[in-house]
Amino acid sequence: MLPTAAKCPLQLNSHGQLRHFLSLDDLPRELLTEILDTADSFLEVGARAVKKVPLLRGKTVCNVFFENSTRTRTTFELAAQRLSADVISLNVSTSSTSKGESLFDTLRNLEAMAADMFVVRHSDSGAAHFIAEHVCPDVAIINGGDGRHAHPTQGMLDMLTIRRHKGGFENLSVAIVGDILHSRVARSDMFALRALGCRDIRVIGPKTLLPVGLEDYGMRVFTSLSEGLKDVDVVIMLRLQRERMHGGLLPSEGEFYRLYGLSSERLALAKPDAIVMHPGPINRGVEIESAVADGPQSVILNQVTYGIAVRMAVLSMTMSGQTAERQLESERAAEEQN
Ligand code: NCD
Repeated sequence: MLPTAAKCPLQLNSHGQLRHFLSLDDLPRELLTEILDTADSFLEVGARAVKKVPLLRGKTVCNVFFENSTRTRTTFELAAQRLSADVISLNVSTSSTSKGESLFDTLRNLEAMAADMFVVRHSDSGAAHFIAEHVCPDVAIINGGDGRHAHPTQGMLDMLTIRRHKGGFENLSVAIVGDILHSRVARSDMFALRALGCRDIRVIGPKTLLPVGLEDYGMRVFTSLSEGLKDVDVVIMLRLQRERMHGGLLPSEGEFYRLYGLSSERLALAKPDAIVMHPGPINRGVEIESAVADGPQSVILNQVTYGIAVRMAVLSMTMSGQTAERQLESERAAEEQN
């Protein structure tokens, strides 16, 4: 584990454990597998009559959302509550920053409330890294989605969904469809799938919504949905990220649906037991037909349930990585004094 700690100095402590959770780039396969295994065990907690374990008792988790969210914020809240943490959620987009307070001042105030973890969502790529670099060292930062850069907990809940429905990654063909260019989910999924050994990762979309150079990362790139979907095991649909588009990247939503919308006929090109995923919010009739979204191959709502377990895994593993780091530091300080 040590060489990877050197590669990801901000995310991993000197034992190679998580101390922040910012992106999936460069995280080793063993760590991703440990997150999935831990999440699997938390799924069982979610099925109990009393859905609580005491792992984060006495800790405070603060959700700081500079960008709107329903699913991600509420599942982080539930995850923290099921771990017995105290949880507060701030919708910063409608509070202090809009009254002129700087990001730094908001952070200093949250630190003064002695929160142990911040879950941060921000419309700027790199915001979570920036905060992790500047926050006081015993606060852990979890990225809840930054711009078009990364959405690591969504990436991991997508991996848990695939592993639970398909048993593994190596022999699967996985297609990610739609607005790849603006999607932090697509980026996190691609890193995770590659790290977990998936050998056939396809990205499908119009040229204007595909970043250049994806082939260099081992992705197979398709501009035709029918070609790209052929015999895949997993279809991950994405929402058009209108809020991140500048200029005329698309003729119209109707045209997009005609070419890239997932209809029942198109889904029939995939393997008969293929699963259909979507991070939500879904736009029916824009990227996906209602009959598919609500159909027997859809696992879109399972993803939401798995999201709580994955977030419990990430919160608890990051907290123990932080605690281990603090212990190590005090041992070092004691040695230096002797
Ligand atoms: C995704 C996001 O916010 O990046 N949604 C989510 O986390 N539930 C995808 C999207 O907004 O399209």
